[in-house]
Amino acid sequence: MDDLAGWRVMVTAGGTREPIDPVRYIGNRSSGKMGWNLAAVAAERGADTLLITTVDPPVVSSGMDTDIEIVRVETAQQMADVVWDRVGAYDVLVMAAAVADFRPKDPLGTKLSRADGPPTLVLEPAPDILNGVVAAGHETFVVGFAAETGHIDRAVKKAIDKGVDLMVANDVTAPGAGFAVETNTVSLIFPDRRVESWPNMSKREVAERLWDVIADLRSRPS
Ligand code: CTP
Repeated sequence: MDDLAGWRVMVTAGGTREPIDPVRYIGNRSSGKMGWNLAAVAAERGADTLLITTVDPPVVSSGMDTDIEIVRVETAQQMADVVWDRVGAYDVLVMAAAVADFRPKDPLGTKLSRADGPPTLVLEPAPDILNGVVAAGHETFVVGFAAETGHIDRAVKKAIDKGVDLMVANDVTAPGAGFAVETNTVSLIFPDRRVESWPNMSKREVAERLWDVIADLRSRPS
């Protein structure tokens, strides 16, 4: 199937790592599997695909041998710099990455020593990548991912507040969903606040169905 031929798509994957000192960082439990699957499926279906990722491809998932341009980053700032610089040339952005909201204000240049005792970490906001993209007013179709640990209402509010074209909410605490597992249980939130909940399925299948939905939404006159 090459129904995405001629499309330029940008996907982000993995959790960002915010340095405390040269050896330690603040991170999160995102494995990048959802983002890698989204990029692989897009490329297989003919899209010119750019993946901005903090992690290597997952070993177990299939279909990772396709032609994907990969940019490796570590921090929210590095991810933001690539996304903001290049997003204007892309038809679709899928922000599957788990981006830090806060980062150490003054990362140390040398390794903290145990002998110095527990440090006080002062944090500052990390850039909000999605907000920056939406504020720039590009034509790009923007898909957000909302990692939730509670009720779907929070994700609906987030979808509206962030001004995305589609929000994919997943309860990361549900069995067989969220970080590091091969499956996911997601709900889609459309701009008219309609919510569509999908059963638990592999991240590969979520990726396939998500591209079906995006293709359908993009083909309609807005
Ligand atoms: N996101 C982003 N930049 C950030 C944080 C999040 O672009 N600094 C993006 C994520 O990639 C995701 C979406 O925003 O597509 C929602 O992320 P999430 O962590 O669920 O939401 P937050 O806006 O961080 O809200 P909260 O932490 O309050 O749940």
